Amino acid sequence: MQSLIAPSILAADFANLQQDVELVNNSQADWFHIDIMDGVFVPNISFGMPVLKAIAKHAKKTLDVHLMIVEPERYIKTFAELGSDILTVHFEACKDLAPTIKAIKAEGMKAGVAINPDSSVSVLEPFIAEIDLVCLMSVHPGFGGQSFIEGTYEKIQQLKALIHKKGAATKIEVDGGVTAANAKKLNNLGADVLVAGSFVFKSEDPSTTIADLKQLSA
Ligand code: DX5
Ligand code: ZN
Repeated sequence: MQSLIAPSILAADFANLQQDVELVNNSQADWFHIDIMDGVFVPNISFGMPVLKAIAKHAKKTLDVHLMIVEPERYIKTFAELGSDILTVHFEACKDLAPTIKAIKAEGMKAGVAINPDSSVSVLEPFIAEIDLVCLMSVHPGFGGQSFIEGTYEKIQQLKALIHKKGAATKIEVDGGVTAANAKKLNNLGADVLVAGSFVFKSEDPSTTIADLKQLSA
């Protein structure tokens, strides 16, 4: 099955954001991946609501919003109003995950749950049937441009097995260090969505890079 490609706007040119949003609109990309960081959950601050609002105004594809913030439940309604289609919270950042997932869905969004590279897939077992998307972090969250953590391959297999065991329809997203060197293998293992930031936007021709990733994950 073909994987969806979600370019991460974190690696875009923030001084020419509309240009990069249009680039994604006109490319073979499937989703926009939007990284929101609070400087507390992760040691970096990316951008917040006004920037997402500006992106949403021009974006013509699914907005996949990845919250790397503490107590994300505080902002579920706000991110729905800003136009998020998928809202992903971190397992490690939620006091009570089940009601958070419920609240995301109640606002009409798909519910995503991300786990850090050091968190085991098994922590998701009680929740998996309710989760629309699991985001497997293949780098430590906080920064773009890091190298892919190889242990992610095994986690995809474990997650696939868990989804199958529970009869769930959860999609698997892999986020961090995705390049042409690992896209094919990630697709073969069953990753449904590949997030790619630096590899796309730091390339000479981002549209062609997106098309290449798409082809590799077909
Ligand atoms: C990392 C972010 C990723 C990041 C991916 O904290 O969640 O989405 O933007 O960037 P690359 O593809 O450069 O690793
Ligand atoms: Zn992300």
